[in-house]
Amino acid sequence: PPNGRVFSGIQPTGVPHLGNYLGALENWVALQDQYPSVLYSIVDLHSITQPQEPARLRNNILDMAASLLACGIDPERAILFQQSKVSAHAELSWILGCLTSMPRLRHLPQWKMKSKQKNEGSVGLFTYPVLQAADILLYKSTHIPVGEDQVQHLELAQDLARIFNNRYGDVFPEPRALLSSTRKVKSLRDPSAKMSKSDPHAGATISITDSPDDIAFKIRRAVTDFTSEVTFDPETRPGVSNLVTIHSATARISLEEAVSQARGLDTGAYKQLVAEAVIQRLTPIREEIQRLKSDAAHLESVLSRGNSRAQELAASVLSEVQRCVGF
Ligand code: ADP
Ligand code: NA
Repeated sequence: PPNGRVFSGIQPTGVPHLGNYLGALENWVALQDQYPSVLYSIVDLHSITQPQEPARLRNNILDMAASLLACGIDPERAILFQQSKVSAHAELSWILGCLTSMPRLRHLPQWKMKSKQKNEGSVGLFTYPVLQAADILLYKSTHIPVGEDQVQHLELAQDLARIFNNRYGDVFPEPRALLSSTRKVKSLRDPSAKMSKSDPHAGATISITDSPDDIAFKIRRAVTDFTSEVTFDPETRPGVSNLVTIHSATARISLEEAVSQARGLDTGAYKQLVAEAVIQRLTPIREEIQRLKSDAAHLESVLSRGNSRAQELAASVLSEVQRCVGF
């Protein structure tokens, strides 16, 4: 197996959707077997760059913890922890922020987009890529599973590792991207957009805790086109191709195999087949989330143990950094 340390974070947005699961979490589970050291963080410091209702945030953190465990994150093989409980994230972020120029951050696409939506963004929203760099470097992480939309933020982390090392000595290895090979799952109501928790259309997003009836209903109503034959052609037939993507990923078969199973079926009949594959895949996860959520004390103790293990690793890197800086 390769050497190195995997780090990734996910915001506590409550229960993940099918796109999060197939595009990110499934790969997180696989990486536990491939790398000797793996850390997954519920990044609550990042989530407060947007206003959050406190009771809801607290509940979302536990929901995310339950979801990650139910999807197969194993606290024996991965350190699963809550970012805000490891104060070294904020401390290293400050030090790295002092090595980051304003124009460097101003040019990142997410700032351009989100600050425009909000008219003006907070300082936290502006500097959160620096906090992401700190999340990664705090553990001297080497392999970072990211979506394509995060590649430029990882480049900032790489730059900051280099800038720090040049100024203070060789402390940080260069973190490398592990890009997900899964195709983006698209919105069921607007297949030109990715499936997202913020999709405004009803029925566009499948949550991993949706009931079998909800899943079947949403897929039955998924936007397709007027050709009844099933083909995989994302450019000209994004709707039906999205169903093929979902089918192949949930049934763990190739796209070709998914299309061949659709032979002779019209889109209506194919939707039933896809719904069955999704239901079969998500049912054990949904049941496990329900079970875990009925025992908040257990969830809190899993997180608390992960927090301690992360604190220990972080403390040693932070004190090395502090010595370098002259503190
Ligand atoms: P959302 O767009 O719903 O806010 P996030 O941006 O929080 O989701 O994404 C969390 C993780 O899930 C990221 O690694 C991202 O690349 C992945 N992801 C999100 N949406 C999808 C999707 N529709 N298809 C595949 N992966 C996705
Ligand atoms: Na995103």
